[in-house]
Amino acid sequence: MTTPATETTNESFLEPSNAQSGSQPLTGLQIEQWRTKGFTLIDGLIPPDLLNNLLAEAKELFPGIGSKEAAQITDFGEGMVFPSSSVSLNDLTLHPRLLMASAQLLDVPVTSLRLTQSDLWAKYGTGNEHDAYNNQDQRIHMDYPNHTLTHPPKWDEPEAVEIIVYLSGQVEAGGSTAVVPRAGSDDEAYLPPLVHSPGIGDIPWINDRSQAESWFLRNKPEVAKLRNSLYQREKYTKHKKGSVLFYRHDVWHRGTPLHRDTVRFAQNLTFRKAEASWISNLHPGWAWAMYKPDLRMERLIAQSTIEQRAVLGFPPPGDPYWDHETVSYVEARYESLGFDGFPYREALP
Ligand SMILES: [Fe+2]
Repeated sequence: MTTPATETTNESFLEPSNAQSGSQPLTGLQIEQWRTKGFTLIDGLIPPDLLNNLLAEAKELFPGIGSKEAAQITDFGEGMVFPSSSVSLNDLTLHPRLLMASAQLLDVPVTSLRLTQSDLWAKYGTGNEHDAYNNQDQRIHMDYPNHTLTHPPKWDEPEAVEIIVYLSGQVEAGGSTAVVPRAGSDDEAYLPPLVHSPGIGDIPWINDRSQAESWFLRNKPEVAKLRNSLYQREKYTKHKKGSVLFYRHDVWHRGTPLHRDTVRFAQNLTFRKAEASWISNLHPGWAWAMYKPDLRMERLIAQSTIEQRAVLGFPPPGDPYWDHETVSYVEARYESLGFDGFPYREALP
């Protein structure tokens, strides 16, 4: 059976708000929205030139809509991943304003962020087949199950920021992200344990909305009722090219269908707090990209700022890893590519 389509009114849409210029890109209100409701949609965070370059590279790399190859691509993780041969993808991943905004949301210094995911993927408007793994009209879900080995912590102590950078606008391509704002600490839908979703415990992982909700109706009618109320409460991103959705691993949300015969490009990223080591990397460790002929990873380490390196797990100045020998050995490894060990040496006791 299929569930009825949710009616969308003007109030159902979520308009982006503008980032500030300067060193603190997010306003107090935007931070508050993320902390209380679970998400915030921001414009003007990433320079347009960087977005345009990345979009041009993505269009070049991914097969065109309607092609046989496009039909094979069903989900993310099948696209461009960090560290990439695309300098734009790497630059966006470690963009100082993106890092600073994430640090504001988690209320930590940038050097206490760790990158655990960055991939760019194409979603194609292929119509609405409803096999269980179809990614067009997703079931409502939270993202934590395939990021963390544990359960999300208390609501007021978030340990990760999940990000979608949209490279295609909602008006042109469709594909809003639907989110369910948390309505305070007694919101029934957000009471832990947060386990009423496909892929958790003994509930089979089903991606498609109508397939998933039929399963709940048959097997867990009480949960089906709760989940039905989530669809009623959805807000839909009215994102433009370059809009950035910051959301949380413990917020209800889902992807919705694209307009037919369109393609949408988006980059997904995750930053966690350094101490939350139970949140896994969604890609092989960054060092696994060493030895590529273009030296992409070696160059990133050599030429990034101290903060950008820290986000990749490279020890910051003052870390116990550093002594006079380790500074000079690491310098020897990377100096031909421009690494400067001075800040690490200067911070030695
Ligand atoms: Fe998701």
